[in-house]
Amino acid sequence: MIKPDAVANGHIGGILAQINEAGFRIVAMKMLRLSTEKAGEFYAVHKERPFYGELVEFMSSGHIVAAILEKDNAVEEFRKLIGATNPANAEEGTIRKKYAESIGRNAVHGSDSDENAAIEGNFFFSGLEKF
Ligand code: CMP
Repeated sequence: MIKPDAVANGHIGGILAQINEAGFRIVAMKMLRLSTEKAGEFYAVHKERPFYGELVEFMSSGHIVAAILEKDNAVEEFRKLIGATNPANAEEGTIRKKYAESIGRNAVHGSDSDENAAIEGNFFFSGLEKF
């Protein structure tokens, strides 16, 4: 996902270019705005965390770009490309180092396992929308 901060700041193109250059294939993609209910559902795993309310509010505050990406070892490769959750700890050249504002407004989300990637992909896309 490209998060509301990066969309509002005009970074969709820069982020997609970096994803393309890193060799990911785009299987599905769309721009949409999540309701608070849907953002809460997407991040339900973090329900008990102190930042959950702030996260849900932020993720429903503007448009996002959702995408399914394919590459060998995609989960790990994408996490390398985006950098650490907190941009203060992200490596130079990573997407979060370049575009994220803070740990909460951190420009992009990447799935943390193949299993969650499948769940998250199915959250946003039907079979007809995957190529
Ligand atoms: P993401 O990869 O989308 O997965 C969960 C998100 O929770 C994470 O990126 C951060 O944006 C957010 N998050 C994690 N820790 C904090 C925190 N301490 N304060 C605010 N948001 C956080």
